[in-house]
Amino acid sequence: MSLTIAIDGPAASGKGTVARALAQRLGYAHLDTGLLYRAVGRKTLEGMAPLEAAQSLSASDVADADALRAPDVARAASRVAAMPEVRAALIGFQRAFAQRMGGAVLDGRDIGTVICPDADVKLFVTATDAVRAARRHKELLGKGHDVTLDEVTADLAERDRRDAARATAPLVPAKDAVLIDTSAMSIETAVRTALDAIRAVQPEL
Ligand code: DC
Repeated sequence: MSLTIAIDGPAASGKGTVARALAQRLGYAHLDTGLLYRAVGRKTLEGMAPLEAAQSLSASDVADADALRAPDVARAASRVAAMPEVRAALIGFQRAFAQRMGGAVLDGRDIGTVICPDADVKLFVTATDAVRAARRHKELLGKGHDVTLDEVTADLAERDRRDAARATAPLVPAKDAVLIDTSAMSIETAVRTALDAIRAVQPEL
């Protein structure tokens, strides 16, 4: 049996890394749903209205993952992600992806709560604010963005606040999610912990 695996958590918690590794390990398709909001955010920076941007989203809009990682795009993503009509416009694509034959891993903020409430496995990946800021800082420096740790810390705090406080699909763990705190974990340990949670549901995987 192929599973639908929902992974949620705040920015730089390690959820994307865990999601990618699980998908590769299990041979499942992977969707980073943050990229959808980032692509909508980027189109609004270019002057398009948020709903129109969401409704007209196509594969080419999410192709350039590196450009979508830029801090100004992340801020724009967090703003459009607070708009119920934008979220509604993106639900169909995400649910269709989750139903793929052969299994799917989706990561985001509301996968286990809104997009796939019946997912076979739900994981909620977290890490302390300091660890997440340090990870994101390193990642941005590596990509050539000139930012300080203080700027990244303030930026993450602002985005977390907005993601958690919004009325529609706020960032909260699903009641039946397995919590994984990656603060003191290596990537390998985080992936193994996630696999253990999946095997609790499907022992032969
Ligand atoms: O995971 P990320 O940093 O790429 O997400 C970008 C923004 O999109 C972030 O502010 C949260 C938002 N988001 C969301 O609201 N729901 C999702 N399923 C995924 C991302």
